[in-house]
Amino acid sequence: MKIGVLGSGTMGISIGHFTTIKDHQTIIYDSSKNALKSGEKKLSDLLKKLKNKGKYSKEDIKRITSNLTFTDDIKKLKDSELIIEAIIEDINIKKEIFSKIEKLVDNKCIITSNTSSLSIASLASSLKENKRFIGMHFFNPANLMPLVEIIPAIQTSQETLDRSKNILVEMGKVVVIAKDTPGFIVNRVARPFYGEAIRIYEEGIANIETIDWATKEIGGFRMGPFELMDFIGNDINYMVTETVFKEFYFDSRYKPSFTQKRLMEAGYLGKKSGKGFYDYNTEEIKNINKNRELGKKIVFRILSMLINEASDALFLKIASKEDIDLAMTKGVNYPKGLLAWADEIGIDNVLETLENLYNTYKEDRYRPSPILRKMCSENSNFY
Ligand SMILES: NC(=O)c1ccc[n+]([C@@H]2O[C@H](COP(=O)([O-])OP(=O)(O)OC[C@H]3O[C@@H](n4cnc5c(N)ncnc54)[C@H](O)[C@@H]3O)[C@@H](O)[C@H]2O)c1
Repeated sequence: MKIGVLGSGTMGISIGHFTTIKDHQTIIYDSSKNALKSGEKKLSDLLKKLKNKGKYSKEDIKRITSNLTFTDDIKKLKDSELIIEAIIEDINIKKEIFSKIEKLVDNKCIITSNTSSLSIASLASSLKENKRFIGMHFFNPANLMPLVEIIPAIQTSQETLDRSKNILVEMGKVVVIAKDTPGFIVNRVARPFYGEAIRIYEEGIANIETIDWATKEIGGFRMGPFELMDFIGNDINYMVTETVFKEFYFDSRYKPSFTQKRLMEAGYLGKKSGKGFYDYNTEEIKNINKNRELGKKIVFRILSMLINEASDALFLKIASKEDIDLAMTKGVNYPKGLLAWADEIGIDNVLETLENLYNTYKEDRYRPSPILRKMCSENSNFY
């Protein structure tokens, strides 16, 4: 296929890396010459590293480099059969580029956006022929992370949805379909992993080291929430939470925390700035409380909140139960799908934890999803 990628930043480069290793001719366009240069350099450094490590053969490198071109001339994208937009997260700038690209490409070309937080319906409205527009949300880095969330807008045709899905599946991606709602599946369902962990820390129930230890050691997660927030960047992670919160008309379930906001304001962004929840410049002495009872309580509280979010996404038909579980295991590496996990630990136990939290705090954020109550009364499971 001939693929046009808009944007030569973090995502544009990793998407281009992915499509070219899959042998598709790809042109990456960016309006900034500097961004193109720096993107090209970053990719070439990465390819060298992967070759030295023995992960890529000479042929792999050749396939990528011979299929990939960089340009600041948008007209070069006119023969594209698929456009994947990954420019700055600004609705007006995105809309402007979509109306430009629509005039250039053939009317069979599928036009997609990799936006994390904008409405697909709103972006689609920038096109005259908007039934060929769809959300294609890759995960960072797109060349490694198997998941892509596909988000049809209300304007998208079934043909566009089917073709988009086939293209990605043929390229070996794991595809899930999500409703055009804030955070789609992953960025919505994952919020309590961060939010509830911060809340536990703010209340003084445990320190960050203990919470991270418990989620990994007892919960089986690859990274603890604080390590992960530092890894993602507290600026980015905070902004995603704030966007989801605002987009859900200030539902308290997604309320951001002052703890993380202050870190962001102070420039304590995490690994990339040398300091975040953790200090990466000193050999910190980790003060972990390895009391397993406490650890289990922490994990069960965070997990129950995650399951509640996944259940509510199912209740509101954001995606199928299979897709919700796939999204969390393939998009953010959770050890198990949350709904399958709920079956394993017992829906009644999850509901009891949520009801206890709700009764203790009387905060709406702890309200259990109606589907959990219904399932409990029917004694049923997700699977
Ligand atoms: N970074 C992530 O982890 C991640 C994951 C999934 C989705 N996304 C989404 O992908 C998109 C890009 O994110 P990113 O992290 O790669 O951003 P980035 O800041 O690394 O790159 C954005 C690029 O867009 C270019 N650009 C800005 N205006 C432009 C214009 N008018 N025309 C052409 N190019 C323009 C910039 O020069 C820059 O190179 C966003 O919509 C973001 O929400 C990001």
